[in-house]
Amino acid sequence: MDNKFKNICVMGLGYIGLPTASLLATKGYKVHGVDVTPSVVETINEGKIHIVEPGLDILVKSAVGSGNLKAGLQPEAADVFIIAVPTPFIGDHEPDLTYVKQAAEAISPYLKPGNLVILESTSPVGTTNLLADILAEKGHTPGEDIFIAYCPERVLPGQIIVELVQNDRIVGGINKDSTKTTAEFYNTFVSGKVLETTAKTAEMVKLTENSYRDVNIAFANELSLITDANDINVWDVIRLANRHPRVNILKPGPGVGGHCIAVDPWFIVSQNPELAKIIRTAREVNDSKPEWVMNKVRTYASKFKNPVIGCLGLAFKADVDDLRESPALNIVKQIQQEKLGELVICEPNLKSHDEFELFSLQDTLQKADVILLLVDHKEFSGLTAVMLKEKLVIDTRGIIL
Ligand SMILES: NC(=O)c1ccc[n+]([C@@H]2O[C@H](COP(=O)([O-])OP(=O)(O)OC[C@H]3O[C@@H](n4cnc5c(N)ncnc54)[C@H](O)[C@@H]3O)[C@@H](O)[C@H]2O)c1
Repeated sequence: MDNKFKNICVMGLGYIGLPTASLLATKGYKVHGVDVTPSVVETINEGKIHIVEPGLDILVKSAVGSGNLKAGLQPEAADVFIIAVPTPFIGDHEPDLTYVKQAAEAISPYLKPGNLVILESTSPVGTTNLLADILAEKGHTPGEDIFIAYCPERVLPGQIIVELVQNDRIVGGINKDSTKTTAEFYNTFVSGKVLETTAKTAEMVKLTENSYRDVNIAFANELSLITDANDINVWDVIRLANRHPRVNILKPGPGVGGHCIAVDPWFIVSQNPELAKIIRTAREVNDSKPEWVMNKVRTYASKFKNPVIGCLGLAFKADVDDLRESPALNIVKQIQQEKLGELVICEPNLKSHDEFELFSLQDTLQKADVILLLVDHKEFSGLTAVMLKEKLVIDTRGIIL
């Protein structure tokens, strides 16, 4: 390989770290992946994967098979260190930077002059400088002997392998040299544009992107409540309003799930409690939508002596098997907890579920008194009001024609 970066150490081998590590390995880099979970390390070293992502199995198999990717529990010396560990929130929606701090401490003994440290985890503003401070305390001189930058991940689960290469990237260093060196590295494997800025701006860009989505979904969700209270069909309102050339309202749903849009806006709110009014309210509107759906279910179920409630979809969004922070799954669990009726669940993207028996679409429709549409999976797209005329229907996704 004809560039100055040859050895890469990737900290965290989850949805972001593993595709990144294996992609770099297939591009010719020598990659050492690190995870704190021994089973993850073992699985990867066998050329297998522990998460579901299209194309990732083949990529990891080929990366490990070529000898360019191996995994371990401890870091090794490298030219570039990429941190892709979790950044959840704790308590009252405060960012939890424990994993980032642990990763920084872990790589510190392996850093040499000229090394590049890149933070890819979605982080509150100031985290890249915090990383620099931690490494400075360990005797390094960030910006001079080592370069540090933030480069947020913007990939869409389900398309990670393609988007890792094709998406434009934002690179923000703690100083100009850090930004330049990091941009140089991404330009070796990214076909999208690599856009340079400061660390703080790059951190804010990532949080802005997800907050923008959240606020727009909250608008649609609030609209669905208002129209329902006024006996107006929200889907008609949105369809017709969107015929205005400068209006583009998103679709309401049963709440906002996943581990990005439902989490990242809180990083802005926690640092700017007085200023982030719309962003906080949007989070609250989206978080309260499942309870609104539950009230509908309670009302409809109470109309039957022994109600059978057919739930369509468990995933956090259409056409994936990912259940993390899924409002659909939480609603189904709540129905079960409140014993509102017999549950019949259809989730076409899962073969089985630990807690719930899964049924075919046909069986679900046939057995249920109340149909609760939670996810707009493609398998549900042909359902019509005529087909469901015997049922009480709660369509949180506007699927029924
Ligand atoms: N998944 C996505 O679609 C997505 C998209 C954009 C940004 N992000 C962000 O990327 C970051 C990582 O997300 P993810 O989905 O890959 O998480 P993940 O939970 O799938 O993977 C993180 C991995 O890091 C490991 N880990 C924890 N602490 C560690 C440490 N100190 N050293 C080494 N490994 C450690 C965990 O065991 C886990 O395997 C988060 O900040 C997330 O918000 C994720």
